[in-house]
Amino acid sequence: MSESSAREQAAGDGVDAASTTTVLVPVVELRGVSHVIDRQAILRDVSFSVQRGEIFGIMGLSGSGKSTILRIIMGLLRPTRGQVLINGRDIVGLPERELNDVRRSMGMCFQNAALFDSMTVAQNVAFALRSPGRRRLSRAEISERVSELLDRVGLHGVGDHYPAELSGGMKKRVGIARALAQEPEVMLYDEPSSGLDPVVASVIDGLILHLADDLHVTSIVVSHHVGNLFAVADRVMMIYDERVEQIGRPAELAEAGTDVVRQFVHGQPTGPIVV
Ligand SMILES: Nc1ncnc2c1ncn2[C@@H]1O[C@H](COP(=O)(O)OP(=O)(O)O)[C@@H](O)[C@H]1O
Ligand SMILES: [Mg+2]
Repeated sequence: MSESSAREQAAGDGVDAASTTTVLVPVVELRGVSHVIDRQAILRDVSFSVQRGEIFGIMGLSGSGKSTILRIIMGLLRPTRGQVLINGRDIVGLPERELNDVRRSMGMCFQNAALFDSMTVAQNVAFALRSPGRRRLSRAEISERVSELLDRVGLHGVGDHYPAELSGGMKKRVGIARALAQEPEVMLYDEPSSGLDPVVASVIDGLILHLADDLHVTSIVVSHHVGNLFAVADRVMMIYDERVEQIGRPAELAEAGTDVVRQFVHGQPTGPIVV
């Protein structure tokens, strides 16, 4: 990487001043990960690493395995082959109890926001504060923390509303607030701008950037919207044909992408890619 963004410099926090040795253990690293379901390959030999504070994008056609990668990182799905290192530790094969600790260090924003319709916005966010393994908070503490989280995603005063009363963009923000409640080290966003009109989608992009800068949270953003992804990501990986097609900074991919990447970036991402 020749250029260094502010976030990449932040990734330099891993420099050990005392010994001047650079310790750059990626927060998330996949090594040779393959996943096969019913003899059908979903992912083949996928390797990449994400540095602390980085916004890493994953793009690819629908069905290319993007959500599967997020589920593997979260420890919700055990790949058939390969290693999944979180802060340098392989989580493949960890017992469920330890996997739960890993999951708690990650905030997942699901594609459909996945809110409980029968709960208010505040109750939805508070639910994440009551997850097992967390310190029990008093009612007042919960209420204060919920307001703080809703403010952070620009949803001041909507705590008493129900999800059905909210727009698509607002629901996504509630999903983000709920994921942030766990004070995650890594935020995973699955198609954060899908189903939103372009203006709202760019507001969500702004929020992802703001949270990454403000909270120094490492972020992995999955999207098939190239424009949105390129607007937020430091680096982007394209998955094609179940494999890693290319990884690079948005400008690199736009200018020097493989044929498949350039077709996806400049062309018609809806149809099958012809190479
Ligand atoms: N539990 C499952 N059983 C069988 N096939 C699955 C399962 N989960 C995902 N797939 C298949 O794996 C492929 C990748 O899915 P997914 O990761 O959801 O893609 P994306 O998020 O890129 O749209 C798809 O072809 C999908 O049909
Ligand atoms: Mg998906």
